[in-house]
Amino acid sequence: MIRTPICDLLGITHPIVLGGMSTGTSVPLVAAVSNAGGLGILGVTGMSAAQINEQITAIRATTDRPFGINYLLFRTDDASFEAALTAGAPVISTAWARSDQDLRSYFDRVHEAGLKVIHMVSEVPEAIRAAEAGADVIVVQGTEGGGHVGWMASMALIPMVVRAVAPRPVLAAGGIADGRGLVAALALGAEGVLLGTRMLATHESPLHPNLKQAIVRSDGHDTVLTEIPDIASGQIWPGAMARALRNRLIERWAGREWMLRRRYQEEGKAALEARLAGDVENAPILIGQDAGLIDAVLPAGEIIHRMIAQAEEIIKGHLNLLIQPGSPTQP
Ligand SMILES: Cc1cc2nc3c(=O)[nH]c(=O)nc-3n(C[C@H](O)[C@H](O)[C@H](O)COP(=O)(O)O)c2cc1C
Repeated sequence: MIRTPICDLLGITHPIVLGGMSTGTSVPLVAAVSNAGGLGILGVTGMSAAQINEQITAIRATTDRPFGINYLLFRTDDASFEAALTAGAPVISTAWARSDQDLRSYFDRVHEAGLKVIHMVSEVPEAIRAAEAGADVIVVQGTEGGGHVGWMASMALIPMVVRAVAPRPVLAAGGIADGRGLVAALALGAEGVLLGTRMLATHESPLHPNLKQAIVRSDGHDTVLTEIPDIASGQIWPGAMARALRNRLIERWAGREWMLRRRYQEEGKAALEARLAGDVENAPILIGQDAGLIDAVLPAGEIIHRMIAQAEEIIKGHLNLLIQPGSPTQP
């Protein structure tokens, strides 16, 4: 068993959290992660207040463990946010605020409702902004991750953010898919991890089976940072690119983004249809470099149990054996 203070803060058994992916989570996936002792988070960006209530009721019916819901702040309307505060999810997770949004006003409302807030960042100044605004937990996301990411790699960014927001707890995200990643994140000062891509390739994930197999096939070298999925869906993301599988869709428009901007309505519709149909060459497939560590579609609960078991084995076995008797100053 690996326990860190964040387990007590969030009321979970294992320090493993599901990223609240708006296009990659579902009630069964959230429930599976929470039932396995992690924290399931449902992405609700774009849902109406009624839909959010319905989804939270469905989660409550399948787990009595803590769970959360996630908002992309730059796309969040007030009615939907208010609905979440009263609907009964114990944790609110947020990410990607515009620079003119007042984080404290969001976080204060979460705290007044008696809930905890987790905010995701991709750079140190954003981490300080979130900590000063009162976030209970900071998620630091490295550029290796799937979906929208910044420029900084986890190896350098995690300890920088840990230092900048101390003693506030930090979760590490981006490029983590197994127990080795969990141990590395703990070594860098994080109190746990948040997983995206690994949880997309699960039995419970809502992705089309072809897209799950695309993750299994990816060697991790075939992702690219691109604005093409956002241009095709007509979105302007505040300060991020998307890490996506380099497929025919990306190759067709790379270097011709200006043209895609002109034709985004028909191309966006085609990309969405390709996604629903499981067309891996023409759909935007947002995944991280850690796809190269994923070689099977598994039940979400099994991923959590394997991660903990592997991390324990590394800490107790391999790492422990590296310590030899003697003083660090002896040659
Ligand atoms: C398809 C996809 C959609 C995502 N959507 C969201 C989202 O709506 N909100 C959010 O906070 N993070 C979102 N993320 C980011 C994840 O929460 C997480 O930070 C990231 O996936 C971690 O990197 P990894 O994929 O290497 O595990 C998304 C990631 C992916 C792959």
